[in-house]
Amino acid sequence: MTARESLEESLLAALAWQIELGADEAILDAPQDRFAAPAPAESRAPVPPVAPATRGTPAVPRGHAGAAAATPDARPASPRDAPEGAAAAIAAAAGTLEELAEAMRRFEGSDLRLGAKNLVFADGRPGARVMVIGEAPGAEEDRLGRPFVGRAGQLLDRMLAAIGLSREAPDPGEAAYITNVLPWRPPGNRTPSSAEAALFLPFLVRHIELAAPDFILALGNTPVQALTATATGITRMRGRWQRHAATGCPILPSFHPAYLLRSPEKKRESWRDLLALRAALDGAPVAPE
Ligand code: URA
Repeated sequence: MTARESLEESLLAALAWQIELGADEAILDAPQDRFAAPAPAESRAPVPPVAPATRGTPAVPRGHAGAAAATPDARPASPRDAPEGAAAAIAAAAGTLEELAEAMRRFEGSDLRLGAKNLVFADGRPGARVMVIGEAPGAEEDRLGRPFVGRAGQLLDRMLAAIGLSREAPDPGEAAYITNVLPWRPPGNRTPSSAEAALFLPFLVRHIELAAPDFILALGNTPVQALTATATGITRMRGRWQRHAATGCPILPSFHPAYLLRSPEKKRESWRDLLALRAALDGAPVAPE
């Protein structure tokens, strides 16, 4: 095999690996001829690039001195050997949302980060009475580093607006704070596995503790099953208030907006859930099962 053939083979293998990880779009405007100008050894940064923090989400730039200094450094030597234990310890050590975001960015216990462009931590107003929890970032969310910005996110914004809530509202009573079970996009937008959801659960629980919402709106199977430790599907769970065991926060399970886009006839039930959330915000008693 000539040197060129060998280079060709390793470039093709690298390309196949990226496709395997879920790469589905080019990031440069023009193709780069790697035969003509072999790039200097360029290693992927250990920490993925920082999402632009917007609309009330705490900014956590890479290398941000304050966040770095405050970041809990008490990580086990190798989170890869015992990622669940490492996740719990790292999450518990985060004292602020910024520290939590930075800890999640650095967490090496999952390879999902290797295939993602940006950490998708949260959007909206920390301190909002309502915390919305979805599944995992999709392609748009991954590109922009913000949850729920694609078609499903636009529907979510309209659903929230229908009950007087928005990500941008300065008043915590009218605001929503939005996150996902997974902070990294799964390759090819696949549904997160239960093992992935379980691995990131300690981060989500700490996120809930730090954001301290009055109510959680859990969208779809992934957050409902992760937060209530049940295998019951969303069709049976929706509209039935639950209590989050670790924080005591009431959870309202409802359909995921991506599902509503595929099954618009389900919007009627979703609307009932939204009205129940509105009523709870207005003081109606909730009786979690
Ligand atoms: N679906 C989700 O569950 N979360 C997002 O952020 C986007 C789509």
